[in-house]
Amino acid sequence: MAIKFGKPIETRARLQPVEAPAPGADPLDKPLDLPTRMRRNRRSEWARRMVRENTLTTDDLIWPLFIVEGNRTPVVSMPGVERLSIDDAVRAAEQAAKLTIPCIALFPYTNPQLRDEDGSEALNPDNLVCRAIRAIKKEVPELGLLCDVALDPFTSHGHDGLLRDGVILNDETVAVLVNQALVQAEAGCDIIAPSDMMDGRVGAIRNALDAAGFTDVSIMSYAAKYASAFYGPFRDAVGSNATLTGDKRTYQMDFGNSAEALREVELDIAEGADMIMVKPGLPYLDILQRVKDAFGMPTFAYQVSGEYSMIMAAAQNGWLDGEKAMMESLTAFKRAGADGVLTYFAPRVAEKLAKNN
Ligand code: PBG
Repeated sequence: MAIKFGKPIETRARLQPVEAPAPGADPLDKPLDLPTRMRRNRRSEWARRMVRENTLTTDDLIWPLFIVEGNRTPVVSMPGVERLSIDDAVRAAEQAAKLTIPCIALFPYTNPQLRDEDGSEALNPDNLVCRAIRAIKKEVPELGLLCDVALDPFTSHGHDGLLRDGVILNDETVAVLVNQALVQAEAGCDIIAPSDMMDGRVGAIRNALDAAGFTDVSIMSYAAKYASAFYGPFRDAVGSNATLTGDKRTYQMDFGNSAEALREVELDIAEGADMIMVKPGLPYLDILQRVKDAFGMPTFAYQVSGEYSMIMAAAQNGWLDGEKAMMESLTAFKRAGADGVLTYFAPRVAEKLAKNN
């Protein structure tokens, strides 16, 4: 369609309103004088396919997995999602590769006895997530592997950083995150994803990775991450809900803000982020679009746990068609400009896409 000054030519050319049919006239006698009928492009499946602007493919998917020591356990607040043992996670990784999902993300449920004030288990090179990375990389080396850098699965208070007298420390936390990133890179992680929202962590992690010879390890920064109620089920899954004291509003963004997201993203790009993320997803499509338009970076969205669970719960009640809501919501991310989406629906979508082809 020809666009001039942001307006379709067709609508600019039509200056007169359509003449209304006389009252009581048979519409078949005199069709409306409409040179443009938008419905022509929607009249059949082939036409809709021809003019479709955005489509979802398996290339757009990143599949977040929860891992646990020992046996798999369901995540009650996320129907259809389980915490997987390392062996199960290897099998899930194989399934991802078979479904042509390019990348998975690993989130550990740390044994409560191993959690402490400072999240020290995050730095153990033999912790759950590092063992999972090694096991998966050994069996499925062609699959991309992303890991969160943040302390919340490891701290007794459930915060992403070090807590002193009710304050989350910034620079001291960054020093720990740098070591967490190094431990994960050493284990074989491909993409380091700082999700903590401390200031300066992307640059510090980039420097440390480069100094240690990990110049090929990427950084996907959770650049615009909001303090959100939609993370609730995730905190169940990693076991930080029960222990979380207070909220994360001194480091995660205020949901009333939009311009601030651009500053956050700009800083992370300057510090060396290879890819950036906006989170949560669907309630923040405006942010996603602004960020993609402003920077043209590889830009990802996280369809977070609460978004997944809302769709699943409504579907289980028969209140909406879950499959359709899944496809529609994920395509919406593409339309807003996302290059990909972290979504718990990943294997289900990939199976559906494979069946359609
Ligand atoms: C940890 C982290 C969170 C999520 C991803 N990494 C939770 C939080 O910040 O409290 C949320 C993901 C989801 O809800 O699916 N920093």
